[in-house]
Amino acid sequence: MSLSKVYRLLEPGPVVLLSATAGGRTSIMTMSWQTPMEFEPPLVGCVISNRNYTYGLVKKSRECVINIPTVELATKVVRCGNTSGRATDKFEKLGFTPVTASLVAAPLIDECFANLECKVVDTRMVSRYGFFVLEVVKAWIDPARKDPRTLHHMGRGRFMVAGETIRLPSKKA
Ligand SMILES: Cc1cc2nc3c(=O)[nH]c(=O)nc-3n(C[C@H](O)[C@H](O)[C@H](O)COP(=O)(O)O)c2cc1C
Repeated sequence: MSLSKVYRLLEPGPVVLLSATAGGRTSIMTMSWQTPMEFEPPLVGCVISNRNYTYGLVKKSRECVINIPTVELATKVVRCGNTSGRATDKFEKLGFTPVTASLVAAPLIDECFANLECKVVDTRMVSRYGFFVLEVVKAWIDPARKDPRTLHHMGRGRFMVAGETIRLPSKKA
C-alpha cells in the first residue's frame, strides 16, 4: 500500500491493536487515542498509558505495529483492552496469529485488515502525556477487503461501526 494513503486509514479514528516487542517479550494493547499528524512521511501520534505493559515495550524498542481490526474481531479487541500482557501471551490467549514484520521486530496481527509498521520518532511528550509520535515506515492492507467495517470507540463499552460510505466534491483526490 502507498504510504501517502496511510492517513486515510486513520483519519476516522478506528480502534486499533498496537503490538510491540522488547527483550524477547511481546504484547498487544487496544488503543483508541491515536491521531494522524502528517501525510508523508505518515506520522501518527498516540497516547499510551505508562500503566500498560505495552508502554515499556514501545519505550524500550522504539518500534511497534498499529494493526487495524474490523467488527468481526470486536469481542477480542475489547478483551485485549481489558487484560494485561504482563503475565500472559495475548496472541495465544486471544487466538491472534503473529506474522513477521519487514522493518520492525514487533509482529503484525494476521487477522487485522491493515498493519502499519512504525518507528518512534519523537518522545518529547512521553513523560508528560504518554504521547508518542510514530512514523509509519511500511503499510500493509488486504486488497480483498472493500469498505472494512472498523470500530470507533464512543466510551463506556459503546462502539460505532463504520458503515455507509458517501462521496462529496473535494479539492484533493
Ligand atoms: C476500546 C479501548 C480503547 C483503549 N484505548 C487506549 C488508549 O488509547 N491508550 C491506552 O493507553 N490504553 C487504552 N486502552 C487500555 C489498554 O488497552 C489496556 O490497559 C490494556 O489492557 C493494556 O495491555 P498491556 O498491559 O498488555 O499493555 C483501551 C482499552 C479499550 C477497551
